[in-house]
Amino acid sequence: MAPSDQITVPSVAARKVSAGAEPLVMVTAYDAPGARQADAAGVDMILVGDSLAMVVLGYDDTLSVTVAEMAHHTAAVARGNPRALVVGDMPWMSYHVSTEDTVRNAAELVRAGAQCVKLEGGAKRVPMIEALVDAEIPVMGHLGLTPQSMHAMGGFRVQAKESEAALALVADAKALQHAGCFALVLEGVPDAVARMVTAALDIPTVGIGAGPGCDGQVLVYHDVLGFEDRMAPKFVRRYADLGSQSVEAISAFAADVRSGVFPGPEETYHLSRDEAEALALYGSSRGSGS
Ligand code: KIV
Repeated sequence: MAPSDQITVPSVAARKVSAGAEPLVMVTAYDAPGARQADAAGVDMILVGDSLAMVVLGYDDTLSVTVAEMAHHTAAVARGNPRALVVGDMPWMSYHVSTEDTVRNAAELVRAGAQCVKLEGGAKRVPMIEALVDAEIPVMGHLGLTPQSMHAMGGFRVQAKESEAALALVADAKALQHAGCFALVLEGVPDAVARMVTAALDIPTVGIGAGPGCDGQVLVYHDVLGFEDRMAPKFVRRYADLGSQSVEAISAFAADVRSGVFPGPEETYHLSRDEAEALALYGSSRGSGS
């Protein structure tokens, strides 16, 4: 059962900083313990991002992850029973072919426990967004540096750096809002452009690498906690170094096993004295009788 103070889509949709709201906080999570930690920290939204592909499943980009894998991890997050809104990320090719496929794939994520879905792209996604909204599935948009377009963009590059592209981004954002999106992720765009988009919309923007002028911020769980050290994007701030701490802890366990210090008496189950003696007698009588 959902917690009574559950964060909902309408409550997120109303969170405009320009109207006096507190900035939204979103973090990714991919399993029940991650969801419980994020929820205990009081975030507003948990994104089961397709970054799953890179930070958990070991792929080099997000293109390999499937709807089934996203649903598997969405279900794990939902079993953490968070009060935060659970956002299921639609993977590449799950919303590109037809509106029917799009709704069917989004429904998989909703049945797994997502309360809404996120998809990447601008005005060309409007038919898909309208079909989802029509099927009562709330949609969060995602504009700017959209990692699923990495080949088309020529890599992970900051977007909308020229005025024409910035104006096109504002037009895309308005098209998504008009189609029914309740919020929008803005990734990898100059802060002035993010401010323009944020000011142009009634729905909140959630930035990542988009500066402080958005209505909220999102980061990837493994980046916040310092588990991911293969890449260090400029926009990431690490709040812990759990990657190194994990290696230290597992090394200490290995050293204790090898030196015979683990397990110690306090980590071992013991028989009562009577039972131990009975077993010893049994062992010795069998031994002496043979
Ligand atoms: O998949 C993801 O983690 C994302 C965020 C970076 C916004 O889409």
